[in-house]
Order: sequence, then C-alpha cells, then structure tokens
Amino acid sequence: MGVKVNCELVKKEVVAEGIYKFTVKAPAIASKAKAGQFLEIKVSKTGAPFLRRPISIYNICKEEGLVEFIFQVKGEGTKLLAEENVGAEIDIMGPLGNGSFDISDYKKVAIIGGGIGTYPLHELAKELNEKSDVTVYMGFRNKDLVTLEDEFAKVSNRLVITTDDGSYKEKGFAINFLKEDCKKEKPDMIYACGPLPMLKAVREFALEENIPCQVSLEERMGCGIGACLGCAIKIISGEEPRFGHVCKDGPVFNAKDVEI
Ligand SMILES: Cc1cc2nc3c(=O)[nH]c(=O)nc-3n(C[C@H](O)[C@H](O)[C@H](O)COP(=O)(O)OP(=O)(O)OC[C@H]3O[C@@H](n4cnc5c(N)ncnc54)[C@H](O)[C@@H]3O)c2cc1C
Ligand code: FES
Repeated sequence: MGVKVNCELVKKEVVAEGIYKFTVKAPAIASKAKAGQFLEIKVSKTGAPFLRRPISIYNICKEEGLVEFIFQVKGEGTKLLAEENVGAEIDIMGPLGNGSFDISDYKKVAIIGGGIGTYPLHELAKELNEKSDVTVYMGFRNKDLVTLEDEFAKVSNRLVITTDDGSYKEKGFAINFLKEDCKKEKPDMIYACGPLPMLKAVREFALEENIPCQVSLEERMGCGIGACLGCAIKIISGEEPRFGHVCKDGPVFNAKDVEI
C-alpha cells in the first residue's frame, strides 16, 4: 500500500483551459511509484468533499523526489484542487494500485490514449522508449483539447494525433490508425487508457488479432484502497469469473482478464 504524505506543491502549470499540471515534492512516493499507478488526493482542507480524488501519475522524477500529475477540472473536488498555489501542502496517498504496466523488453509497442486517459501513459512511454520502438496514438475530440503533443513526441519514436472532427492532425478515431498500422506490422504489446468505448474497442481488436494488451481503467472510486467496494470489475481470468477492484487489483489489467 502507498504512504500518506503532505507534499509541497512546487510547480503549477496550466496545460489547457481547465487542465492543470502539478509537480509535488514527494520523495517517499517517487521512490516506489511505477508507471500506471495513481494517487488519492485530499482536495478539501475543511471537510467536504470528504472523499479523496484518484489522479494518475503522469511523470516520476526519482532523483529529485518529484511526482507530477495532470488533472481536468470536472466537479467540486478538482475545482478545489485547482485553487491550490505553489507552496501549498497537499495531502496525498500513494502510489496506489497493484496492477501497473508491464515494462518488459518488447521490440515494438503501441500506446493508445484518449483525452485525459493519455496522462498515465506518459511515464509508460518514457520508460519503454529507452528500449522499445514506441508508437503513441492520442485521440481527442477537437483541436482545443489536444494536450502534451511535445511531451509525448519526446518519449516516442512516432506520434499519431487524431481529432474526431479533423480540426487538428488526422481525422477520426485513434484506434483506426492503430488498426491500419497493424496490417503492416503488429506490435508486441498494446497499452491503452481512455474512455470506456475506446478501451472496449481496443480490447476487442487486440483479442481478435491475438496481440497482448493491457488496459488502464479509470472507474469511479471511493476509498481507493479496496475497502468500500466502489469500483467493482468482473475478472474472467480464473476458472470462475469473480469480482475484483479496479483500485486494488488494477488499475492496469491484462485485457483478456477483465470484462469491460
Ligand atoms: C484510477 C484513476 C485515475 C484517474 N486519473 C486521472 C487523471 O490523471 N487526470 C484526470 O483529470 N482525471 C483522472 N481521473 C478522474 C478523476 O478522478 C475524476 O475526474 C475526479 O475524481 C472528479 O472529481 P470531482 O470532485 O472534480 O468531480 P465529481 O463532482 O466527483 O464529478 C464530476 C463529474 O465527473 C465525473 N467523474 C467523476 N469521476 C470520474 C471518473 N473516474 N471517470 C470519469 N468521469 C468521472 C462524474 O460522473 C461527474 O459527471 C482518474 C480516475 C481514476 C479512477
Ligand atoms: S474505491 Fe473503494 S474498493 Fe475501490
């Protein structure tokens, strides 16, 4: 299990409208964190909202003891978090999740993310890029929502950006470009994080084509540590299907092991 620490906010950046990148000093978390794990962040100093909010780790700087995360303001919790300023102490539990990405010595990998689901894939791409040929596919609804293009270009051999409406780069869904590339050469592994319809489609394609695939799920959560049953997921890997927890058993799963 992760540790609970008060971390100093050392850098705050606006990545796009309503999307923030926070860098926190958290050596105890940075030293243990793995790509695909997440943090549970206390967003209120006065009580409500009471529940911590889960946010994925975007980047780990072990040597400096820094952890970075990026979040979009959605409701009350993320709005309060966005109001914090440099120098503030933020109460963070992490790193959480027992399922993290498989960083083996693959020759060629494909990483596909949609919208805010691209953030947890950065640390993964960074680590894989040291030894594998990495193609990253990032899908967004439109040009205004395209984020982190330069950052992902630095950690990939090839970056494909798509917008649903064609307002920037390739028009269409990112998965269609992945499918097209797979006709020429299949990757050894596909990693995916993003909206559920995208994850379902990637999982189905990977199973059909017999390509190993890992998916990171961003189910709604309560406690974040397996205590409240708020994030149930059907696991189909054993003899009998059973219910597991995204927070405790995931958030990263082998696509063939879960029903989504
Ligand atoms: C493991 C995990 C990792 C995550 N990583 C990130 C991240 O890196 N960056 C980021 O911006 N967000 C991430 N999220 C989503 C983030 O936790 C929610 O957006 C946040 O909790 C919303 O809190 P709120 O109080 O602002 O909004 P609430 O008032 O709780 O909800 C506002 C709206 O957001 C929707 N919402 C809440 N939680 C989720 C969710 N998990 N998935 C989809 N919609 C949701 C609600 O349905 C509602 O419409 C992650 C979620 C999980 C479970
Ligand atoms: S969020 Fe409580 S069990 Fe997963």
